[in-house]
Amino acid sequence: MLPAIHDSGSGEAVLFLHAFTLDASQWDHQVAALSGDLRCVRVDLWGCGMSPPPPSGEPSLDGYATAVLAALDSRDIDRVAVVGLSMGGYLAFELWRLAPQRIRALVLCNTRAGADAEGSRGDRLLMAEQVEREQSVESIVEPMVARLLSPQAQAEAHIVDPVRGRIRRCTPAGIAFAQRAMAARPDSTALLSSINVPALVIAGTQDALIPSQEVHAIADGIPGGRSIELDCGHVSNLELPRAVNDQLAEFLIPARMAS
Ligand code: MLT
Repeated sequence: MLPAIHDSGSGEAVLFLHAFTLDASQWDHQVAALSGDLRCVRVDLWGCGMSPPPPSGEPSLDGYATAVLAALDSRDIDRVAVVGLSMGGYLAFELWRLAPQRIRALVLCNTRAGADAEGSRGDRLLMAEQVEREQSVESIVEPMVARLLSPQAQAEAHIVDPVRGRIRRCTPAGIAFAQRAMAARPDSTALLSSINVPALVIAGTQDALIPSQEVHAIADGIPGGRSIELDCGHVSNLELPRAVNDQLAEFLIPARMAS
């Protein structure tokens, strides 16, 4: 089943991939700023936003990536720049593994190349079982807010309220599928040296989920990879939308890339 796709603006296509428990609307600020120059394409992963439930079968990032490529095909979109944050970054690596010829540039925000440690894998499976048992995502709303946002952002209603709304729109099946897919994901460290398109990495100094050193390590592994650090938590594009927009504009808009 194809994930929901949101297609705004015109120009070279950019595919935005959202973080765990969020949805395509995570990128609203970026679409508002960039869709005059770029075709901004966003998907809601299964069970999030407006997407249908996940398919039956073994959850995997490969499953998401295959569906995202099919969603691009459905819009006749061949090559894209990919912008992925956290789980969206894990998925960007999977897209590179499956279809590198379709990627013209990569922006990897607040993500890591490595697989899970054993303990985190166990925690993911526990959360998957919990939301399925409760048939509700309510019990994960506040714990996820605390992980996703810095303390300052948690105190800003205009940031935190939409984050709560996005988490509540996810279904238990969507959350369980995502956690099991992330738990099963392969280590992408060995893939980094094969990335031969322009790559920008964005880290957050206050990221409680993925320490900035781990994020910068991605750029160290990619030939010519560049990395920057912003003073924010895990979801950099929601906490510092203008700074992220400026970086994306400079990196992705062809006229500016050439100048
Ligand atoms: C995310 O923000 O996408 C996830 O929380 C990342 C993770 O759980 O590894």
